Amino acid sequence: MADMFRLDGKVAVVIGGAGGIGEIMAKGLAAQGARVAVASRNLKKLEDIAREIQAETKSETVAFQADVTDKDSVSRLGEQVLKKFGTVDILVNSQGINTKNPAIGFPVKDWDQLFDVNVKGTMLACSEFGKVMVEKKKGKVINVSSVRGVRATFWGGNEGYCATKGAVDMMTRSLASEWAPYNINVNAIAPLLIRTPLAAPTLNDPAKLEKYVANVPFKRIGEPQDLMGLCVFLASSASDFITGQIIYLDGGLTAVG
Ligand SMILES: NC(=O)c1ccc[n+]([C@@H]2O[C@H](COP(=O)([O-])OP(=O)(O)OC[C@H]3O[C@@H](n4cnc5c(N)ncnc54)[C@H](OP(=O)(O)O)[C@@H]3O)[C@@H](O)[C@H]2O)c1
Repeated sequence: MADMFRLDGKVAVVIGGAGGIGEIMAKGLAAQGARVAVASRNLKKLEDIAREIQAETKSETVAFQADVTDKDSVSRLGEQVLKKFGTVDILVNSQGINTKNPAIGFPVKDWDQLFDVNVKGTMLACSEFGKVMVEKKKGKVINVSSVRGVRATFWGGNEGYCATKGAVDMMTRSLASEWAPYNINVNAIAPLLIRTPLAAPTLNDPAKLEKYVANVPFKRIGEPQDLMGLCVFLASSASDFITGQIIYLDGGLTAVG
């Protein structure tokens, strides 16, 4: 029974694996026995985290440099991971950025960058690693969306970010449908505010934070640790009949909002 959450013999790729959320998910997968590739642009940071995860979990963890906005870079990542590990069983898309701007005069450059990283980057990674999963007729894809895919904020400036997460939600459902014949599960985790660098503008604004927490039934924001169990579950055989779902890890925020 307990074995249904083990990931021994599996290979996981965690993009954004040196980010606040990605790191904890990579650690969770490695702790369950998966060999893990962590990837993003900052190789030095990734290497430090890979070393730390490997020391703590004893699972092989390797860092790869990749920019998800660049198709060639994602293709190279695919080649390098296959060369190193021979296959891919689990893909976690935990890359992401958030740039807030008032709707009037929203800079097009910021809009494009949000969509490049959060939407195009997720699709390029799914497409690259999905190739391997389709071929072997097995795989688990976990996209990191957000409560902002279905709920706006009380304060403004979030149109770009919210729109990208709505897109990630629909990409998740659409891929789940397209790849169901290949036994690939595609799901998304949609957290509320999690204590990471990306959330700094809200975390560092006490009035905003207080207003935020007041609307959460559990009366707190999330910690990266809150992501670990759900990620392991979605990567494991325990979730084999779940696909196309957006799972809200939000202390009840979307239940009442
Ligand atoms: N924190 C929150 O409150 C929260 C809430 C809901 C959803 N989320 C989502 O959770 C995911 C992870 O966010 P986080 O909180 O962990 O933020 P974070 O600590 O800032 O991590 C973001 C990660 O994305 C990577 N990244 C950014 N641009 C990239 C690119 N072009 N190519 C490859 N990697 C790139 C960064 O690595 P490099 O800089 O090395 O490239 C970093 O590892 C995001 O999708 C975010 O939208 C976060």
